Amino acid sequence: MIVASLQYHMCRMSNTSIAVLGTQWGDEGKGKIVDMLTPNFSVVARYQGGHNAGHTVYVKGQKFVLHLIPSGILHPGVTCVIGNGVVVDPKALFKEIDELARMGIAVDGRLRISEKAHVILPYHRELDVLSEARRGERKIGTTSRGIGPAYEDKIGRRGIRVCDLLSDFPALQEEVRENVSARNRIIKDSTLDWRPVFDQLVADGERMRPWVNDVSLFLWQAMKEGKSVMFEGAQATLLDIDHGTYPFVTSSNASVGGVCTGLGVSPKAIGGVLGVAKAYTTRVGEGPLPTELSGELAERLRESGQEYGASTGRPRRCGWYDAVVVRYSARINGLDALALTKLDVLDGLSEVKLCTGYRTAQGLLTEFPANLKTLASAEPVYETMPGWSSPTKGAKRMDDLPVEARRYVQRLEEVSGVSCAIISTGSDREETIVRPDSAITSWFGESVRA
Ligand code: IMP
Repeated sequence: MIVASLQYHMCRMSNTSIAVLGTQWGDEGKGKIVDMLTPNFSVVARYQGGHNAGHTVYVKGQKFVLHLIPSGILHPGVTCVIGNGVVVDPKALFKEIDELARMGIAVDGRLRISEKAHVILPYHRELDVLSEARRGERKIGTTSRGIGPAYEDKIGRRGIRVCDLLSDFPALQEEVRENVSARNRIIKDSTLDWRPVFDQLVADGERMRPWVNDVSLFLWQAMKEGKSVMFEGAQATLLDIDHGTYPFVTSSNASVGGVCTGLGVSPKAIGGVLGVAKAYTTRVGEGPLPTELSGELAERLRESGQEYGASTGRPRRCGWYDAVVVRYSARINGLDALALTKLDVLDGLSEVKLCTGYRTAQGLLTEFPANLKTLASAEPVYETMPGWSSPTKGAKRMDDLPVEARRYVQRLEEVSGVSCAIISTGSDREETIVRPDSAITSWFGESVRA
């Protein structure tokens, strides 16, 4: 017992394993931050979601969009992990692996998929679309990737896991048969045959076999050897099934709790939490967005921020920065610092606004409400600040920023209750400010460069 705890303590002392996650409604620009920090890690591990995520990374002007495999795969020598909390669509996985191979990136030996991860079955996508159609006006605005139905099967204890595809085929056959007949009862006049579904799953399992692993054990051993792990979030805190704007959420725990359940690691393994926040707010899909803008200003942010979904191409809804949201995220996730992205998108605006509270029928709220009706009718309380005419685009140091932009960042930090360790001023890796004496330098030393 004493030995085990000592060993654990030793491994804690030598690791700087960090969670990097979204603090708003997703699409905060996590891809770039994750990509930039990856050289500090031996392993990048995803803990939830599926191919509903879309991480766009630009390397030397070339655009990469990854949905399922952590973008760490673009860095030679880094091992990428897909945790048990992720739902895996084999077709999407193979497509990504094949695309990476075409770009000269081999995943063999560098990819580990949890044997406990649940599989998205071919008809989950169909059920996703059907459930949205049934909700009509109340639709969630899902990515139609079958994510929700796959998690429903997991929680309903009828899901099929990656390990189920690798052996005991009679048991798998039974499961598939039952699942397909349940599906046939849901979809009117449907007579899907279970056999091709089963055959496909066995073939998928065979292709996946070399990458399948006990991910929890792998991570534990890696950390014990002093290797550091980045726990990479997908979607974001306000899309978390428990803490987000339910029911307009994704079906997993995108906030920090998901790291432990979605990878089988102890909370003590998380050495720090970096929240990614956009300098304004966006969301795709339905559900309340208190600071949402319309008209010319919304269009202006959408165009200059290229606010179109990486997975679905849908235009994102845009609004001012909401400090109530980020304060809430800071509390839920225990954020040590923020990586503030897309500051340059605000360049050229005559004024910029920060939301610090909501006016509601119940009075002034400064904490994020659970009740969606309250949220939907909330009127944002804004602080208005002067904008800046000279560009922040490409700035690498705080001193390079116009004074108004510096003041905006400072006030944003004050009202959010968390400071910015990184400020992103463009889509390229180089276009980044890493602040000295921030959480980043305390985790990784002064050598972190964009
Ligand atoms: P689902 O995850 O496809 O079930 O969609 C549920 C909600 O999460 C919808 O509002 C989606 O638009 C949103 N969502 C899912 N993945 C992402 C993402 O990567 N970025 C932003 N929103 C997402």
